[in-house]
Amino acid sequence: MEKILSGKPVANLISKACKSLIDQYQLKPKMLLIQVGEDPASSYYVQSIVSSGQKLGCLCELLTLPDNTEQATLIELINSANADASVNGIMIQKPLPAHLNDSIINCAINPNKDLDCLHPLNLGKIMMESDGFLPCTPAAVLFCMIHYGIDPSGKNLVILGRSNVVGKPLANMLLWKKPFANATVTVCHSRTTNIDRITSAADIIIAAIGKPNFVNADMIKENCVLLDVGINEQKNELGQAVYVGDIDYNSCFNKALAITPVPGGIGRITTSMLYLNLIKATLDAKNINKTIDEYLALIFSGNRQE
Ligand SMILES: NC(=O)c1ccc[n+]([C@@H]2O[C@H](COP(=O)([O-])OP(=O)(O)OC[C@H]3O[C@@H](n4cnc5c(N)ncnc54)[C@H](OP(=O)(O)O)[C@@H]3O)[C@@H](O)[C@H]2O)c1
Repeated sequence: MEKILSGKPVANLISKACKSLIDQYQLKPKMLLIQVGEDPASSYYVQSIVSSGQKLGCLCELLTLPDNTEQATLIELINSANADASVNGIMIQKPLPAHLNDSIINCAINPNKDLDCLHPLNLGKIMMESDGFLPCTPAAVLFCMIHYGIDPSGKNLVILGRSNVVGKPLANMLLWKKPFANATVTVCHSRTTNIDRITSAADIIIAAIGKPNFVNADMIKENCVLLDVGINEQKNELGQAVYVGDIDYNSCFNKALAITPVPGGIGRITTSMLYLNLIKATLDAKNINKTIDEYLALIFSGNRQE
């Protein structure tokens, strides 16, 4: 197995599968991407989504709304996109300004167009191990493990973080009775005591807490696999923005069997996952329904690292 688990080859495989589906079925997928406010980190991410769409041949319509947009206005826009057959998928950039209620907004999106997999119906499917959308970041972690031949089956796997976007759906997916899952999962959060004792016993650690360099070499065992979801902005000595993960890469590198870099790791895979969901929504609308296993076969057959 490679020591540095780069996200790029995985993202490329997903994009290749997206392109081949677009060609095979002559699709013109369209996403509506809504950003409320102009938070610089969100704007950067949103621009990268738009440009990835252009490269794939998908249309990504970006709607930037002022910071003080009322909830009713946002829901009206979502309702009209729900009803618009030319819009195949909807994504609302998070975090939203504090006056907007995340769960009400998530429930307003048509579950068939819910690219971020945040509607309760889609999250319920994750819990039930039913075919449906895969939440982008948890799927990015799973796809990274599949690509690099990291088998979580029967392993002691620790997830740091229990958010609805990452930790909780990922824990459920890793409990699936599928060949790429079957892990023994422990989820830690801010109230967990003795985290270092738990992480020290882990074969695989997935960190998603938003705390720069939280996991250090003293908290891990020899030859564990480290997957870092965290993206934290810091300033370097020149005052420029640099990004670090939740895992202290330099401290853990020698002790770990394999580690994802930040940037260039899990985050690199997440955007391509969003487009895979857009293609799935577009195909589903044409009654071309594929299972998760069929999408995985399309992405990984013959392309797995050992
Ligand atoms: N790579 C990507 O594509 C991607 C996508 C989404 C997010 N992210 C990044 O991933 C990180 C997590 O994002 P998120 O949206 O899941 O964050 P979030 O909603 O803020 O949740 C953070 C989670 O971490 C837990 N936590 C916080 N401090 C902790 C500590 N000291 N010890 C143990 N657990 C702690 C929290 O516990 P409580 O529940 O007890 O508060 C919570 O469950 C962020 O850095 C974010 O930027 C990356």
